[in-house]
Amino acid sequence: MSEKFDVVVIGGGPAGYVCAIRSSQLGLKTACIELRGTLGGTCLNIGCIPSKSLLNLSESFHQAKDFSKIGIETGDIKLNLSKMMQNKDKAVTVLTKGVEFLFKKNKVTYLKGKGSLLDKNRIVIDDKNNKQTIESKNIIISTGSEAACLPGVDFDEVKILSSTGALNMNKVPQKMLIIGGGYIGLEMGSVWSRLGSDVHVVEYLDHITPGLDKEISNEFLKILKKQNIKFHLNTKVEKIRKTDKGVNVETHDTNNNKVLHESDVVLVAVGRKPYTKNLNLEKLGVDLDDKGRIKVNKNFQTNIKNIYAIGDVIEGPMLAHKAEEEGIAVAELIAGQAGHVNYNLIPGVIYTTPEVAYVGKSEEDLKKINQSYKVGKFPFLANSRAKAINKPEGFVKILADDKTDKVLGVHIIGPHAGEMIAEMSVAMEFGASSEDIARTCHAHPTFSEAIKEAALSVDKRQIHS
Ligand code: NAI
Repeated sequence: MSEKFDVVVIGGGPAGYVCAIRSSQLGLKTACIELRGTLGGTCLNIGCIPSKSLLNLSESFHQAKDFSKIGIETGDIKLNLSKMMQNKDKAVTVLTKGVEFLFKKNKVTYLKGKGSLLDKNRIVIDDKNNKQTIESKNIIISTGSEAACLPGVDFDEVKILSSTGALNMNKVPQKMLIIGGGYIGLEMGSVWSRLGSDVHVVEYLDHITPGLDKEISNEFLKILKKQNIKFHLNTKVEKIRKTDKGVNVETHDTNNNKVLHESDVVLVAVGRKPYTKNLNLEKLGVDLDDKGRIKVNKNFQTNIKNIYAIGDVIEGPMLAHKAEEEGIAVAELIAGQAGHVNYNLIPGVIYTTPEVAYVGKSEEDLKKINQSYKVGKFPFLANSRAKAINKPEGFVKILADDKTDKVLGVHIIGPHAGEMIAEMSVAMEFGASSEDIARTCHAHPTFSEAIKEAALSVDKRQIHS
């Protein structure tokens, strides 16, 4: 007899593990199947967490080189890359084990192995050829995404890297070519540039970070160039060829200039694609869209009503926090509650130095929908805390409805932007106006005063600039 569950979640990343915990909290008998051997998915194992660890460690190394300028005398600053990598790996282990502990605490059954659908209620779990079948009233697919490569090119994770290989190099490459000026390219480029690589970014478009407010994207590009990262915009990759030493990449820009980049390694960071292999979805007739994503309705149901999908396998930004929200919402919907995700207010953060963060609409979005708006801006150059600690780059930009003053979008490039954006997410969830933000007392001296000043500036009454 196969064991019976109310909810079985396939995939233990941020969408899946959060969903499993919430389902169990709601009294549903829940199991989560994961093939990796550790919980937490791409985010904890080979994505957000190890990259944030390396971003922090490489930034410390970079800052330490300038300590003498601020009155801290040290000996020679040397890099011990293997220790740095151990440090990163420790952070990953602690957090993935932490999720395992949370499963035990919340009575979620953790099943190791590869899950695939036998029919609409039965799942086979293959753990190194040890097979078992379980049954469930509801099945949730949260198998995430994998790095996309260029046509005809394969990742070997030694010379041609995805983010996974870029997080695990055992020596600092002299030259690193990055294809794609998006989140992964810029975060990984920052890490290896700080550790000593000559980093070049090839981007197909005329700007980096597509989708970001253009003014912020332009400022971001300027700052990254000052950090000595080289950019080749409007540039297409023609050929990639591995050599004894590394990789040769031939590029072609819109002015017909051809360049041959002889590089030690190449990071291909041109996006991710949904991971739905081996689930047996075709046989069951689960509908996919033209991008290979599982089609769902507003309750995350596929065309087979008791099979749901959440996270990177469905439409929307491939972000861990979006996936977590969907995990909670679907568990609550299955339990008969009113689960809901507000897709208008999913913040985005790029963890470079300075950080970039946003929530809501960009100016370009507002123009597209013919929404009239007012703009308030405030530079960190005029923020006392930022000046005191010598982090004056960047600014806060608030977009508010021209008539009602309701905040429609907030964009920050500057110190701790990723933390500060949460204030604006909350404010916007409550429907705040820029006047509300401007009249809220912000502690002095803090970076967040730049938000208050930007809100004052919507009405041209900022005090400090
Ligand atoms: P992305 O979509 O952020 O950026 C890909 C970039 O590559 C774009 O600028 C695109 O124009 C460019 N591109 C595409 N094809 C190209 C080609 N043939 N030649 C040159 N440029 C080309 O994708 P990325 O950076 O790979 O990240 C994947 C996903 O991971 C994203 O959805 C992102 O949301 C997520 N992520 C989020 C992070 C965060 O929240 N901080 C960090 C890392 C990843």
